[in-house]
Amino acid sequence: MKPLKIAGIGYCVPETVITNDDLTKLYETSDEWIYSRTGIKERRVVSGNETAIDLGYNAAQKALNKSGFKPEDIDCIISAASAPPQLYPTLSCTLQTKLGIPNQVPAFDLTAACTGLIYALQVARGFIGAGIYKTILIVAADNNSKITNWEDRGTSILFGDGAGAMVVTESDDGVDDILSIDISADGSIGQMIQTNMPSQCCPLVEQADEVGTGKIIMNGKDVYKFAVSTVPAYVEKCIEKSGMKSEDIDYLIPHQANQRIIESIQNRLKYTDDKVISNIKYYGNTSAASIPIALVEGVEQGKIKLGSTAVLCGFGAGMTWGAAVIRLRKGIC
Ligand code: COA
Repeated sequence: MKPLKIAGIGYCVPETVITNDDLTKLYETSDEWIYSRTGIKERRVVSGNETAIDLGYNAAQKALNKSGFKPEDIDCIISAASAPPQLYPTLSCTLQTKLGIPNQVPAFDLTAACTGLIYALQVARGFIGAGIYKTILIVAADNNSKITNWEDRGTSILFGDGAGAMVVTESDDGVDDILSIDISADGSIGQMIQTNMPSQCCPLVEQADEVGTGKIIMNGKDVYKFAVSTVPAYVEKCIEKSGMKSEDIDYLIPHQANQRIIESIQNRLKYTDDKVISNIKYYGNTSAASIPIALVEGVEQGKIKLGSTAVLCGFGAGMTWGAAVIRLRKGIC
């Protein structure tokens, strides 16, 4: 397989902040309840006409700038989108035009919820590794706030909006930035997190008993149990596959779903706090965007030094999960 280089990474979050105290205007809850169970203090949400397309566009611009590639260098676009503003045209096709990427390149979305970034990276790796495409733009962007049931205090406390983007390309120095990567799924437990599309049958036939609401429905307890029982051991296996020892990897950059889930992975790897990147406090769960947001913000805040290695891991609806051990080259963000 041809080696892959991670050339640039960017992120974007909306300006509008909703604090835990703000949520007390919607239902009976408290900052103490939310923070102690999730580690979340606030989240960002789109407002007015702003959507995940705007966030994805800004994140992609930043990733392109850092990578040194121009829109015309991109020969494939893959977006991880689970809560996009529209099903089609896809986020990828819309961004293709907005970013001025020439029309002939393929552009498609994949849905793997909060694992979307790792899924997209694995697909991109296959394309680059096989020599099918050379330089791929990956975008992870969701406006979760538009599909959140704001009357459900069990789910609406968790989610926020955001976008992350990565430019990956065939490596020009023979070094592969993916030391190991794996993706997985178990549809038999998929009912734990659902978003069922609003729909209707043809008016000439019997109607279905239930129609979707288009909102997130989640069994938080089951998701929590699934995450802490599956993800930590899985991450350890992915590290083993990379040929590295967990202590030799510089950072853990996990999906930001719940601080206690992050800590369960941290404890398994026996990592000290300085090796674990967590910004859930300020953004909540931004689904597939959470890993690139945490990564780039970690660099901006001096928590991550580039020229290092990191283990990424994601999990979410499907149920899906995935992990990757990657090199973080200098200058990527
Ligand atoms: N404020 C105050 N009380 C709340 C509340 C809120 N925001 N949400 C729920 N409660 C109440 C419930 O009504 C329940 O009350 P009851 O015992 O009187 O019925 C009680 O708190 C316990 O609710 P429960 O849902 O069992 O809480 P929990 O301890 O499981 O915490 C989550 C809920 C959502 C924080 C937790 O399950 C979680 O984080 N799960 C993982 C979800 C996740 O990460 N999803 C995305 C994966 S990508």
